[in-house]
Amino acid sequence: MSTARPLGVGLLGLGVVGSAVAEALVAGRGQLAGEGARPLVLKRALVRDLIRPRLVTLPDGVVTTDPAAVIDDPQIGVIVEVMGGEQPAFDYLSRAIDGGKHVVTANKEVLCKKGDALFAHAAKRGVRLLHEASVGGGIPIIGPLSSDLLANQINSIRAIINGTTNYILTKMANERASFDQVLKEAQALGYAEADPTADVDGWDAAYKLSVLTRVAFGVSAPLDAIHREGIRGLETQEFRYAATLGYTIKLLAAARREQGGVLVRVHPALIPNSVPMAKVDGVLNVVEVEGDLVGPLWFQGRGAGPKPTASAVMGDLLRIARGAEIRKNARASRPAPALQLVSMDAHECKYYFRLVCKDRPGVLAQIAGILGRLQISIASVIQMDTNPDRREADLVIMTHPSVEKSVQQAVREIRDLGVVARVAAVLRVEGY
Ligand code: NAP
Ligand code: HSE
Repeated sequence: MSTARPLGVGLLGLGVVGSAVAEALVAGRGQLAGEGARPLVLKRALVRDLIRPRLVTLPDGVVTTDPAAVIDDPQIGVIVEVMGGEQPAFDYLSRAIDGGKHVVTANKEVLCKKGDALFAHAAKRGVRLLHEASVGGGIPIIGPLSSDLLANQINSIRAIINGTTNYILTKMANERASFDQVLKEAQALGYAEADPTADVDGWDAAYKLSVLTRVAFGVSAPLDAIHREGIRGLETQEFRYAATLGYTIKLLAAARREQGGVLVRVHPALIPNSVPMAKVDGVLNVVEVEGDLVGPLWFQGRGAGPKPTASAVMGDLLRIARGAEIRKNARASRPAPALQLVSMDAHECKYYFRLVCKDRPGVLAQIAGILGRLQISIASVIQMDTNPDRREADLVIMTHPSVEKSVQQAVREIRDLGVVARVAAVLRVEGY
C-alpha cells in the first residue's frame, strides 16, 4: 500500500470513455504506478444530465453538473477531459491548466483546433498535457513518439486511424455491398454515429493525423492544411476492380517528409494486397512509423471502445501519478526545425482512374492525348464492365507515378470530353 499522498482526479464527461476510466479508478487501477507514486482517487465527474443512467456506479455526490465543482476543486490535481468537441472542452482545459492542474484528454478535435494554445499554456504553467487516447484508442503511439523514439528523425507516418470507415470499407470489399447499405448496418450495430459526417468524410482521421503530425514532426497541422477526402463517393465497382488489380481500398492518413517539408493527407487509397496494411480489417487501427534510426515500426490494435481507450487514459494518469521525469510534452513543446507543410499539388504517386465512356473507336485516343500532354504516363488500360444498351463501358486506367496537380488538370479536361459520361473514380495508389 502506497504511503504517498493521494492525487485527486476530476473527470469531465462520464460517457463511453469516462465511465470506463471511472470504473478503472474505482477498481484500484490508479494504484498501479508503483512505489513512491501517488495513488489516484476519483473525486468528481462532470455530466450534462444527472438523470441519465450511467454505466458505472459511483458514490453519492461524485457526479455533478457544475464544471467549477470539478475544475476548481483544490483536492483535484489532475483533470481528465473525455467530453469531446471543441467547446466547452477548450475553455475547461484552459481553466484547469490556469489553476495549475495536470490535464489528460482523449479529445483529438480540441487538440487539432486548439493544440497550439493548449500546449503553450501547459508549458507556461509547468503542468502536463497528455493525450495518448486521442489517437488510436488503446494503441500506444503518442508515448513512443514522444519518448522512446526521440532520437529519431521521423520520416513518415501512415495509418488507418478511423475504425468506422475501416469497418465500412472492409464490408464493401468483402460483401460488395454499397456504401449506403453498409453505413445503415454499421449505424444499426452502433459502430457508426447517427450523424456519420465526422467519420465518413475524413474529419476524425484528419484531427488524429494533426495530433500525430505535431508529435512526430514538431509542426502544427491545422485542418485547412490537411488534404482531406472521405469515403462517401466510393462505388462497389472500385472494390471489384481494385481486387482484380491486386489492391484493397483503405482510408489512409499519411504524413511524410517530402519536398523539404511535410505533406499531410487523408484520402481513400489503393493499398497493394501484398503489404500488411491491406489486411488490417474491421474496426482495427494501425499506425506505421518510419524513423531514421529505428526503421519501420508497426502499431496495431483496437482504435476505439471503452476499455482500450481507458487503457490509454489510465496510462497517462499513472505517468502523472509517478511524476516521471519525462519532459512534459516532449516533441509537442521542444524546438522543432522549421518544417513547412507542403501542398498536395506536389504529391507524386500512381493513380487509378475509372471513366464511364462511350464504347466506340477513338475514345481512348482522346483520353490518352490529354494524359500524354500533361506528362501522365499510362501503365495499363483495362475495359471492364460494359453497358451495351447505353453503348458505354468502364475504362480503368492505371498510371505510372504522376504529379497531383497535373492529374487534377487532366480530370477537368477529361470531364469536358463529350465521350466521357462520368469520371467515376480517381484514387491514389500508395507506394511501398
Ligand atoms: P460520450 O459517450 O458522448 O460521452 C461524453 C460525456 O461528456 C457524457 O457524459 C456527457 O454528459 C459529457 N458532456 C458532453 N458535453 C458536456 C458539457 N458541455 N458539459 C458537461 N458534460 C458534458 O463520448 P465518448 O465516446 O466517451 O468520447 C469522449 C471523448 O473521447 C471524445 O473526445 C472522443 O473523441 C474521445 N474518444 C472516444 C473513443 C471511443 O471509443 N468512444 C475512443 C477514443 C477517443 P451526459 O452523459 O450527461 O450527456
Ligand atoms: N469514431 C472513431 C472511429 C472512434 O471510428 O475510429 C473515436 O476516436
